[in-house]
Amino acid sequence: MNQPKHPKRYTVTAALPYANGPVHIGHLAGCYIPADTYVRFLRLLGKEVLFICGSDEHGVPITLKARDLGISPQDVVDKYHKMMGDSFRELGISFDVYSRTSAPVHHETAQEFFLNLYHKGEFVEQITEQYYDEQEQTFLADRYIVGTCPNCGNENAYGDQCEKCGKSLSPSDLIQPRSRLSGLPPVKKQTKHWFLALDRYQQTWINEWMLTHKEDWKPNVYGQCKSWLDQGLQPRAITRDLDWGVKVPLEGEDGKVLYVWFDAPIGYISATREWAEKNGEDWEKWWKNEQSSLIHFIGKDNIVFHCIIFPAILKAHGDFILPDHVPANEFLNLEGDKISTSRNWAVWLHEYLQDFPGRRDELRYVLTSIAPETKDSDFSWKDYQARVNNELADILGNFVNRVMVLTHKYFGGKVPTSAFTPSAEVEDVASQIFEKLPEQMDAWQFRQSLFDALNLARAGNKFLADAQPWKLNLETDRDQIADIIAYSIDIVSRLSIALSVFLPDTSAKIRRMLNLPEQFTWNDLLIAHLSEGHALNAPEILFRKIEDNEVDLQIAKLQASKEAIKTTIQHKPVKDSITYDEFMKMDIRVGTILEAERVPKADKLLKLLVDTGIDKRTVVSGIAEHFAPEAIIGQQVSILLNLEPRKIRGIESQGMILMAEDAEGKLRFVQPNEPVNPGSEIR
Ligand code: 2FM
Ligand code: ZN
Repeated sequence: MNQPKHPKRYTVTAALPYANGPVHIGHLAGCYIPADTYVRFLRLLGKEVLFICGSDEHGVPITLKARDLGISPQDVVDKYHKMMGDSFRELGISFDVYSRTSAPVHHETAQEFFLNLYHKGEFVEQITEQYYDEQEQTFLADRYIVGTCPNCGNENAYGDQCEKCGKSLSPSDLIQPRSRLSGLPPVKKQTKHWFLALDRYQQTWINEWMLTHKEDWKPNVYGQCKSWLDQGLQPRAITRDLDWGVKVPLEGEDGKVLYVWFDAPIGYISATREWAEKNGEDWEKWWKNEQSSLIHFIGKDNIVFHCIIFPAILKAHGDFILPDHVPANEFLNLEGDKISTSRNWAVWLHEYLQDFPGRRDELRYVLTSIAPETKDSDFSWKDYQARVNNELADILGNFVNRVMVLTHKYFGGKVPTSAFTPSAEVEDVASQIFEKLPEQMDAWQFRQSLFDALNLARAGNKFLADAQPWKLNLETDRDQIADIIAYSIDIVSRLSIALSVFLPDTSAKIRRMLNLPEQFTWNDLLIAHLSEGHALNAPEILFRKIEDNEVDLQIAKLQASKEAIKTTIQHKPVKDSITYDEFMKMDIRVGTILEAERVPKADKLLKLLVDTGIDKRTVVSGIAEHFAPEAIIGQQVSILLNLEPRKIRGIESQGMILMAEDAEGKLRFVQPNEPVNPGSEIR
């Protein structure tokens, strides 16, 4: 009888996904399925819940996507907002509201927040130097600047991160930065921004508040927060020079918008307001009442924003509750590779729903079974097939089907009159679920709780296999058979409750077969007696097995994305033309590598000594992951001699070795087809 202690009301949010691509299984496993599962569980307990989500429609990646496609940012977000909302709905994610941050109510709410904090003096106003594109007459967000990564030498690193080596960067770290808009080197120009004084809050309350969650937050979440706090929080700019986003609501500040991570989480509040207005409800009780518990479901890349920055904004505003829990998951990989929207390496939800109609619970089941709760995990189609066939079909489907068929065969589909004798073994499993599942849900152990819930079907199968009603004789053993069947129906009915939070379609199907009401509560799990004579409906097959050709098709589809990436690289558009004279300015020659050694603490770099025919010079090259130093001594290479010398890791690099890079990013030397004298010109 372990009804967990819960507050009165739950405000549950699921990260607002960026409206620049469709939903994929990584989003689902990391955030949306666990959130939906938990919300279904709370509703089963009879709790008051509001489940909030919407599209995150601001930020630089959206403006870049619009630019690449030659359409407006609004067109981009309209397209993906609809697509994401539709596919969440089609999967049956039970949001009470799915809003969007381009909605007027959101702009109003976010501006109200800004002004509230502004007037209270919570912001520090600062003039900083930012990169500016003189040709395009615009300040450049970090993502709009590319240059050479100081860590690995990748020439196309972004101003916030190098996608090749993963290092976080700031634009001023880049060597030879250039604007992604004009291709020209940007200039530094002064601009004014507003900063949130996180450093101050850290001292006044964040450290202390975080400590209160040392035990009750997931270790991965608390650990990440602690490491941010240990490094010391810095004031954080909450505005940007950009023309897409929520405008800074101050006179004379045109061209400035709120930073997307300032406005996006406020989107949860805007969405609540939208829902409340539509339904004649009060929005404030969900956000300003101590009886409400705020829970944010997110992926691990969102931790700092939900555990530190958004709470700081809420607290600075005042009156708002802070999150009680932020159950962030790690990442899901696909067939051993990182899921990537830009590389089309993903299983897209809208495609899954199309390719596997009527199989929503199969996806929920697999993604919950492999959810990256404590570490990254991997989805593969073969594993999907095995779990559906061996677990859902063979264990759950088989048990329910046998009970239905036997009832129809022996008792004309009616619950027989019986003495009703529970099996101690099965009751043990059932009471475990009743006792343990709430605790597991509250500890965010959904994988385990689903496994345990399925144990009831395992126990049911074993009960039937031991009892073997099919070996008995209806004439002489009627009471015994009735006992077995009536009890088995009871197990099936309890399964419909225990599994409802994980597999809502399956639960509904079972209820339909049992001819039971759609509404039920957690306490019905204790005993789910159907009255004698109650007529069941006809059996339906719960799970059809997944055939080899169905998964083979999916694997082939992924293979095709790999091929497409290669083709895209091969078909990369030709760069703008240059004049012959411009070409002739480059002094490219054949050189011979004389010495090669690793650069300490730089995994990607080799320091080379190259005989160029005219001198022997040092070149630092980002090829250490492709070649062992000892293996390349004596190799002839193409070298650009008159590239301005630059310091990489404190070593002056005089020139650049030219490499051929294939679709997989593998590097090879560009070499003469037979040895030539060092210094031979390449033209
Ligand atoms: O990582 C993302 O997809 C972000 N758009 C999540 C935002 S969550 C919240 F703050 F809105
Ligand atoms: Zn790098």
